[in-house]
Amino acid sequence: MVGPMGRFYVTTPIYYVNDLPHIGHIYTTTVADVIARWRRLEGDEVRFLTGTDEHGQNIERAARREGITPRQLADRVVERYHALWRTFGMSHDDFIRTTDERHVQAVEAMVARLRANGDLYEAHHEGWYCSPCESFYTDKEIGEAKRCPTHELPVEWKSEENVFFRLSRYQDRLLAWYAQEPCPVRPDTRRNEVRTFVESGLRDLSVSRSTPWGIPFPGQPGQTVYVWLDALTNYVAALGFGGADAALYDRFWADQAATRLHLVGKDIVRFHAVYWPAFLMAAGLPLPSTVWAHGFWLRDDRKISKSAGNVVRPNELIERFGADPLRYFLLREMSFGADASFSDEGFIGRYNSDLANDLGNTVSRLVTLSRSAFDGRTPPLACDDNPLLVAAAEAIPVYRQAMDDFAFHRALEALWHLLSVTGQYLGEREPWKLIKSEPGSDRLSRVLWNGLEATRLVATALLPFMPELAPRILAAIGAGAAPSSWRAENGRDVLSWGGLPTGVPLAEPAPLFPRIDKKAYLAEVVVAAPAVASATPPPANPAAKDTPAPMSSDAPTSTPPVVPTAGASAAATAAATTTLPELRPTIGIEQFAAVDLRVATVQAAERVAKSNKLLRLTVDAGEGAARTVVAGIGKKYAPEELVGRQVIIVANLAPATLMGVESNGMVLAADGGEGPVVLAPSAPVANGTRVR
Ligand code: MSP
Repeated sequence: MVGPMGRFYVTTPIYYVNDLPHIGHIYTTTVADVIARWRRLEGDEVRFLTGTDEHGQNIERAARREGITPRQLADRVVERYHALWRTFGMSHDDFIRTTDERHVQAVEAMVARLRANGDLYEAHHEGWYCSPCESFYTDKEIGEAKRCPTHELPVEWKSEENVFFRLSRYQDRLLAWYAQEPCPVRPDTRRNEVRTFVESGLRDLSVSRSTPWGIPFPGQPGQTVYVWLDALTNYVAALGFGGADAALYDRFWADQAATRLHLVGKDIVRFHAVYWPAFLMAAGLPLPSTVWAHGFWLRDDRKISKSAGNVVRPNELIERFGADPLRYFLLREMSFGADASFSDEGFIGRYNSDLANDLGNTVSRLVTLSRSAFDGRTPPLACDDNPLLVAAAEAIPVYRQAMDDFAFHRALEALWHLLSVTGQYLGEREPWKLIKSEPGSDRLSRVLWNGLEATRLVATALLPFMPELAPRILAAIGAGAAPSSWRAENGRDVLSWGGLPTGVPLAEPAPLFPRIDKKAYLAEVVVAAPAVASATPPPANPAAKDTPAPMSSDAPTSTPPVVPTAGASAAATAAATTTLPELRPTIGIEQFAAVDLRVATVQAAERVAKSNKLLRLTVDAGEGAARTVVAGIGKKYAPEELVGRQVIIVANLAPATLMGVESNGMVLAADGGEGPVVLAPSAPVANGTRVR
């Protein structure tokens, strides 16, 4: 069955430029890419948008800290996004920046519509403000300590004339929208969350700020547009809303038949499922068809974020294994909507078992057998009556339904089930024995062809997930070029049994997923990148961090005396981030004193076998006998340049064995992301001297 053709618009959140991309951002964009590729294969006309959110106080501050302009900071980070999305094979059709002229025009057009509808008014606004969140907080929320509940930073009293949006007017219409079937806010937990929030009463929302780095608020000199009103408008700005050419807008937004899907993390549901639809209602524009909120990637049970200091940047994993295995892992490991944990162990486990073993081995085994049995070709006889055909006829509809439901883990499970049935089938038929007992027989041909055909179906269904490797598998098994639609030129559904050509040449199989030596990899990663790979101590109040702030909205001071928060939990978590890591929780001097830091001189250095990062250093720490210390600095330093240099070591660190070498201590290095820089005393001192 091939799905109906339609028009499909899918968006990711636009990412703040005061942080470099990490696994959370990659996840949302990968999901959007999988959906976009899936819908294209289904025959839809697809528009896939991503981009960057570049205005606001946090970006201005991050830039100032680096001594550059916000625009320079944005340009730099945007380049990183472009490079990463290229590596990941993201198939977006557009990339919007909130500093684009087209976006500014759209925001102005949006403000004009809100004003024309009588939904904007000026009012005095004051209260406790947390600038990283760009939000006001109530007395209760900040407590005695007067600190932001999300960042634990001191809040400041802010008093200004702001423009307000009459959000309160839209309460009933929003509730009616949530009541629609199917509900536009998904999954149900998120729908319930926003419904409860709206039912509890909506206050008007302050939509202007005195922050200079933003889009000037039309008709409000000295004020800029609130970052969320600015940012949310990107979804229509990219289609030409407010500009001269609205053709895309008409096709993908104004036409009610088009699907308009926003993918978001659960921390920014309120912005997308309350404020955004209310803005659109006020502007007289159609609403999104679906706002789909996914869960968080966690590490050590905390949301991965720059402010938590537990960021997983994918560079290392991609450099070694390519982007497709990571795409697979992210989609297989997380049930879309729920939280999931990221760990290197988890990644390697799945890679070795699902990719190297189940998929990679099946492909190379079948290709090798078929080549040797049939003169370097696919088998001469196909087969349309066998248990694999039956298993495929069950698995493919399950896969399709799961894709339609955005249950990607289930879609992949269905494919892996087919792979496992294929493994059993081959195990029972033992074609490696048939090659000897009945070379070239019809039975052997059918057995191998069936195995290859089941693999073709799996690889074809993997096209949205692994845009680089799935086509390589198809080529490797003789299935030819990857299809661009489920409907082949001859009218066949490419996901139905029978597509593998007989008797076509097969090249010698190249390894698709070389196994990872888990122990060696982990040893190297832990030493090379402690901030990334090892657990970061939780902050003093972990519960307060990254927990969405209570739902409420800004309101003028006329009603309650202190203005409630815009509760920008996402803005809170993400906007607070700077280009520097967040301070770890305070420790007492006695905790610091427990770390025995000493000066030592490197006497000898060599590379640890099979590692491009680890160096084995022999150091003199004034103890009589030399020590061996293994350091993950070998990508930056050649062993010879370290000999004779003084370094600082953690002398009382418990010994650890790294790739077979026992390390007694650790060399201190500064690591700002560009590779480690080894620390040394600024003048020579005696070995063994304590560092305080
Ligand atoms: N700029 C706003 C979005 C504006 S959309 C009109 C923003 N940016 S962000 O860079 O902070 O976050 C972008 C997305 O990344 C959010 O959907 C957020 O949920 C997601 N993630 C950030 N960290 C995450 C995890 N650890 N796990 C999964 N996704 C998370 O918010």
